[in-house]
Amino acid sequence: MTVQTLDHRTSTALFDITPLQPSLGALITGIDLAQPLDRPTYDALRAALLKYRVIFFRDQHLTREQHIALGAAFGDLEEHPVFSLPDYPQILPLISDELKERLPGGYRRTSDGNWHADTTFRAEPSAASILLQRVSPSLGGDTVFANAVAAYDTLDEETKARIDGLTAIHDTRTFLQFLDTEEKRDALQKAFPPVEHPVVRIHPETGEKVLYVNSVFTRRIVGLPEAESDALLALLFNQVKRPEFQVRWSWRPGSIAFWDNRATQHYAVPDYSEARHMERVTIVGDRPVGPGGA
Ligand code: SIN
Repeated sequence: MTVQTLDHRTSTALFDITPLQPSLGALITGIDLAQPLDRPTYDALRAALLKYRVIFFRDQHLTREQHIALGAAFGDLEEHPVFSLPDYPQILPLISDELKERLPGGYRRTSDGNWHADTTFRAEPSAASILLQRVSPSLGGDTVFANAVAAYDTLDEETKARIDGLTAIHDTRTFLQFLDTEEKRDALQKAFPPVEHPVVRIHPETGEKVLYVNSVFTRRIVGLPEAESDALLALLFNQVKRPEFQVRWSWRPGSIAFWDNRATQHYAVPDYSEARHMERVTIVGDRPVGPGGA
């Protein structure tokens, strides 16, 4: 097994790239994301995203229109069924105080309930997400990203052979706590019935195998007794928690993280007490395909 490492600072003619950890993550400087992307810049950013899996930027104080335009350059944008701004339905707001109000007991989650790739409850889960910080707590509130290709790659051969043909059920259950009436909860579940995805996904652009179960949306491995499914999922969820597959990003207002949901998972560290305001645009993806093609 070879784990690819990313250890060279490089410059394109268009911007500079500084890898942040051996497994994934790079800081991109010398670019203004408020400007429309020309074709060479778009191509170079796309290549960087596929190589580093999550790319970071500082001091990008985009208007909402500019944020939407940046996302739309990479594909159609999702509208989130539970969180979206009324005037900008493509923007998913994560505003700590409002989330606390909507969720009795507070929004901050435990570590087990937080690692995920975005919107795997969809039949066609998101390809990528662009998250912009608007308000930072003075301390804390980082996001940790994990390389889900390395997480698969470093499993033992027996586990790989066991999971390669399996599928799992993903659903929206995690959002029900944010909806205040039975009617809204029923409507969400009708609009997004549980979906079955391969446990190992083939990345549609790189052809790599990706561990594609996560602790927020994946409920059950199809065809296994419940106890066996729970034990296998616990083992697989743990793989992304290995620090050697991670990069940790500390936000400031104007910071952006742009990640490939088909190759990573992320974890919002719930260790802050002051306001934290984030806004995300999310790029529509395609139906996950497993190693057998289904
Ligand atoms: C997200 O899951 O998109 C939010 C991550 C974060 O709040 O850091």
